[in-house]
Amino acid sequence: MPVLTAAEAAAWRQNLAASGRRVVFTSGCFDILHAGHVRYLAQAKGLGDALLVALNSDSSVRQIKGPARPVNSEDDRAEVLLGLESVDAIVIFDEPRTTGLIETIQPQIFAKGGDYTLDSLNPEELAALRSIGAEIHILPELKGRSTTATLARMALPENPTTPSASSSSPQSNPSRLPRLGVLGSGEGSNFGVLLDAIDAGTLKAEVALVLSDNPGAKILDRAHARGIPAEWINPGDHPNRFSAEAQQAVSGQFRAAGCDLIVCAGFMRRLKDPVLSDFAGRIVNIHPSLLPAFPGRSAWAQAFEAKVPETGCTVHLIDVGIDTGPILAQTKVPILPEDTVDDVRRRIQSAEHALFPQAIGDLLKTLGPFRALA
Ligand code: GAR
Repeated sequence: MPVLTAAEAAAWRQNLAASGRRVVFTSGCFDILHAGHVRYLAQAKGLGDALLVALNSDSSVRQIKGPARPVNSEDDRAEVLLGLESVDAIVIFDEPRTTGLIETIQPQIFAKGGDYTLDSLNPEELAALRSIGAEIHILPELKGRSTTATLARMALPENPTTPSASSSSPQSNPSRLPRLGVLGSGEGSNFGVLLDAIDAGTLKAEVALVLSDNPGAKILDRAHARGIPAEWINPGDHPNRFSAEAQQAVSGQFRAAGCDLIVCAGFMRRLKDPVLSDFAGRIVNIHPSLLPAFPGRSAWAQAFEAKVPETGCTVHLIDVGIDTGPILAQTKVPILPEDTVDDVRRRIQSAEHALFPQAIGDLLKTLGPFRALA
C-alpha cells in the first residue's frame, strides 16, 4: 500500500466500512522505530480492522522537535512503518494538528499513546473526534522505550566519562555516573560550566538530555555541538507559562532518558506536576539573587533598583512555589556605587559559574550512590 493522500485515505476507509471493517487512526513522528512503537502500533491495530498512521512530515517534526530532527526522512519513515505487519496505510501531514485529517477521513477509532490522557488531548482534535463519533483509546507507553532514550543511549559511547559496555559490566562496576537532565531557556553559560566541570572530572556526572522551551536557545546549540541529545519542547501558547502538555513531555522525556536529577540552568518557566512529583527533591535551580530576596524574573535588576548593598546567587531545590524551595548554597556579591545594572548581572553570573557545579556535586553526593541497571 503506498502513502495515501487524505482524500485517498477517506475513500479507503469508506470501502472498508462497506464490508463492516473499522479503521484505527493514530499519529506521530516515528523517527527512530523502537520496540515501544512496534508494540504500540500492534495494540492500536488490535482495536479495529485496519491501521492508518498519520505521519508528521519532515517540516512538522522540525517544528515539534527542533532543527536536529527528524533523523530519518518522511519517505524513509513511511517505508519502515509500511514494513510492519500492523500498519496498513499512511498519510503524511504538515499541519500542527490532525484535526483536518480526522474530519476528512472520519476514522471509527482513534488511538494515542505515551503520556497522553483524555484531558491532555488537543481540544480541537478532541472536538473533531467527538463530532464524528470516534472511539478514543489511550494506550499505555512502554517504559524506557522512546526515541529520546534511544538517542541518549547512542550518545553514551561518545562520552569520555561513561564506562563503555565492554570495559565494565554492571557486575564488575555496580556504580554509575548520575545522569543529569538539563532545562534552559537561553544562553546556557551555566550549562557550559557544568560541562567544563564534567570534563575536568570535578563534577562526577553525565548530561543525558537537554530540553528547552526556546527553539533558538544557545543551550541547545551547545548540547548539539557536544553530541548530547537536545530538544525543543513546545511550551504552549502562553508567553510565560508552561502548558500541561509541556510538563508531561518534560517529565516523560527525562524519565525515558534515565535522568537522576533535573538541573534548571536558566530555565524561565514554572515547573508543575507531573515533573514536580516525578522528580520530587531532585530538581535543582540557580537563581540570580540571595533568596528569599528578589524571587521571580530579572532578579539582578530588582536588587539593583532596590539599591541594596549586596546581592548574589542561590542554588536551591524547586518546589511548588516561585523560587521558594530549600536553599542548598549561596554566594554574596557587592553592589558598588559606580555599578550599572549590567555590571551587577555580570558579577552575579561569575559567582554562579563557581557555585553551580560545586553545589550540584554536593547534592549528588547526598542523592547517590547511583547503581548501574541490571
Ligand atoms: C542565570 O543567571 C540564572 O541565574 C538565571 O538565568 C540566567 C541564565 O544564564 N535564572 C533565573 O533567573 C531563574 N529564575 P545562562 O543561560 O547563561 O546560564
